[in-house]
Amino acid sequence: MKPLILMLCLGLLASCQQNTSETESEKVPPAPTPTDFMNELWYKNTLIYSVDVEVFQDSDGNGIGDFTGLTQRLDYLKQLGVGTIWLAPFQPTPNRDDGYDIADFYGVDPNLGTPQDFDKFIRQANQQGIRVMMDLVTNHTSDQHPWFRQARQRTDSPYRSWYVWAKERPEKWNKGMVFPGVQQAIWTFDKQAGEYYYHRFYDFQPDLNMQNPAVQREMRKIVRYWLDKGVAGFRVDAVPFLIEIADANFDPEKPSHQFDIITQLHQYIQWHKRDAILLGEANVDPKEQEPYFGKDGQNMQMMFNFFANQHLFYALATAETASLKKALNETKAIPPTAQWAQFLRNHDEIDLGRLSDSERSKVYAKFGPDTTMQLYDRGIRRRLAPMLGDPRLIELAYSLLFSLPSMPVIRYGEEIGMGDDLTLQERLSVRTPMQWSTSTNAGFSTGTKMVRPVISQGPYGYSKVNVATQRSDSASLLNRVSRFARLRKQCPEIGLGAWKVLDTKSDHVLAIQYNWQGRTLVIVHNFSPEPQQCAINATTKGQRKLVNLLDNQSSAVGATGIYTAQLPAYGYTWYRLSS
Ligand code: NOJ
Repeated sequence: MKPLILMLCLGLLASCQQNTSETESEKVPPAPTPTDFMNELWYKNTLIYSVDVEVFQDSDGNGIGDFTGLTQRLDYLKQLGVGTIWLAPFQPTPNRDDGYDIADFYGVDPNLGTPQDFDKFIRQANQQGIRVMMDLVTNHTSDQHPWFRQARQRTDSPYRSWYVWAKERPEKWNKGMVFPGVQQAIWTFDKQAGEYYYHRFYDFQPDLNMQNPAVQREMRKIVRYWLDKGVAGFRVDAVPFLIEIADANFDPEKPSHQFDIITQLHQYIQWHKRDAILLGEANVDPKEQEPYFGKDGQNMQMMFNFFANQHLFYALATAETASLKKALNETKAIPPTAQWAQFLRNHDEIDLGRLSDSERSKVYAKFGPDTTMQLYDRGIRRRLAPMLGDPRLIELAYSLLFSLPSMPVIRYGEEIGMGDDLTLQERLSVRTPMQWSTSTNAGFSTGTKMVRPVISQGPYGYSKVNVATQRSDSASLLNRVSRFARLRKQCPEIGLGAWKVLDTKSDHVLAIQYNWQGRTLVIVHNFSPEPQQCAINATTKGQRKLVNLLDNQSSAVGATGIYTAQLPAYGYTWYRLSS
């Protein structure tokens, strides 16, 4: 570990250990300053905005979003409070899995612009103080990638061993599919090759053979190329599959994993860019999470907390917080330099696969009762606003997003409460063009043929839900979300501090306390549609005043040290303790 990172970790640990004695604390370096965190640990408190360039803003009227359009919208993102943009795959692609089927890892899809447009975008984003991350999709390629084309043509092609083959159909050829109900197999016979090839995802996405050192070298080359172009890190696609050891005889239901692929990737990116990071997409059980971060933080710096996400939706659906509290505690043990990323919606279905059958059916009943809203036997393919419906519940969800022990990630369009289009296939329902205004095509494009239909009808049609209208309404979701983003910036304790779930004496209320460098926050959420009373037992020596950060009112805690808070239906409060 590099000395500065080590120092920062020790500083963080020091701030987490509340009972550190004088002599012990003399041994550790001074706690890091906010400037240190701004640099090396920037990801702990940033706001990530997930963008698919193709559907964000079209600048040339061809109905397809592009980098020039995105660049024109940087001011909007800055005003929203975005610190980091995460770009969905933008490389050349046949686009059969919305770009997650890449045909050239080093290019920019001509539909989205030129490499120069990309460079200009990065430059201007950086000038606005916005970092840019991108998807790293090296678990597989498109079947149209020249590597696969060559691999399937000749057994003696150097690319043959870049993929995973079997002469006979493997016994478990139809187990472990990622898209059950749509995908038929994970091994498919290729006539040209005369063998079966392995694909965890769709059959047009052959898996790369990560066991092959040449493939690992190529992955590093790809990473280096984009780091040199200015990206700040990578959202690593499908991590458990990327590192699984797959061959003709492996068991797709119990694969072994090679974690040192991640360790080497981490080291490699940091050699090239000291503060570059890996954000892993790995929906794993908390019992398996440790090696993904690495015991000493040597693997992923960040991971999406899919486990907490599913329990969060359960709590939003039932008003019961016990399982969310448990999920937060179960995912708590991570290295000091690591960070969870929390999200409400992403570009995929909400995966509820880790809930029990009865828990999942309660979430379905509330948020996705129609079978057209469900997908892959495990999830819901809707956007947040139509699913939650009640604006108070949506606001509660955003307050949670910004205050859970993690870094918030917002999917484009969620900040204005965009709807979904269930007539579109699978996950495309939540990938419709951004709604900017009441102009034709929602201000997304002046063209006539859209890359995907704009939502134009019903309560979520663009004449009702759009940026321009919400900008001028101080009570709009857009303005609330940017207020939360500002509030979060004032609360570095959340990303950097030690935290614990408090006992509130209410099943419906979640209270989390954060401590960092002598500062204490207590953030309380009522998941119930009824008002609730809850006990806050969080005062520390000398801190007997609770300042409500939302209205600046303060309340004194009495002699008992317990403050009784009254919360309205779906109410929430962010308190800072002060003396
Ligand atoms: C995970 C991505 O989130 C999803 O959209 C994609 O289909 C698969 N990985 C395959 O790349």
